[in-house]
Amino acid sequence: MSDGEIDPAQFRHVLARYATGVVVVSTCVDGVDHAMTANSFTSVSLAPALVLVCVDRGSRFHEAVTAATRWAVSILSADSEPQAAWFAQRGRPLAGQFAGVASTRGPTSGALLVSGALAHLECRTHAAFPGGDHDILVGRVESLSPADDREPLLYYRHHFRQLGAGQ
Ligand SMILES: Cc1cc2nc3c(=O)[nH]c(=O)nc-3n(C[C@H](O)[C@H](O)[C@H](O)COP(=O)(O)O)c2cc1C
Repeated sequence: MSDGEIDPAQFRHVLARYATGVVVVSTCVDGVDHAMTANSFTSVSLAPALVLVCVDRGSRFHEAVTAATRWAVSILSADSEPQAAWFAQRGRPLAGQFAGVASTRGPTSGALLVSGALAHLECRTHAAFPGGDHDILVGRVESLSPADDREPLLYYRHHFRQLGAGQ
């Protein structure tokens, strides 16, 4: 079956059956903090330590992270749904978007890290590949925060979920 025969609604319906964690990716460009909720985050390589995130070419975060060399990933905990929803809200004000979100500045990347996350990774852009309407951004991990074992935030069938919380 060729790509042209894939119905976009059915494609979304099928992909929604793939459960994921949720991250906030963040960067700082010319003193302005940018961030976006993402679930396309995944590990790529152990040695060297590489991760990737797919970034919508039409998002404001795309413009920011393309201009930056460093960025960060906050792996969200189950109680961070409000932050995940906020950084996914289209058209939210760019200026001061971290005003209502507790965060600390990553010493390696200069990007803001969401407080209360399960873990943080700070990355330098290693490569970027075109992927249709997204770019595949590969990051070399330059520093890690220790992870903790609280419950993760999940995304499944278009909704935020928690482990074992049923439908
Ligand atoms: C659970 C969830 C996961 C998302 N994952 C991605 C993703 O992996 N890549 C992406 O480009 N957008 C993703 N989005 C959409 C962005 O968060 C959303 O478009 C955001 O408003 C972009 O902000 P910006 O335009 O200010 O950059 C996701 C949204 C949600 C709710």
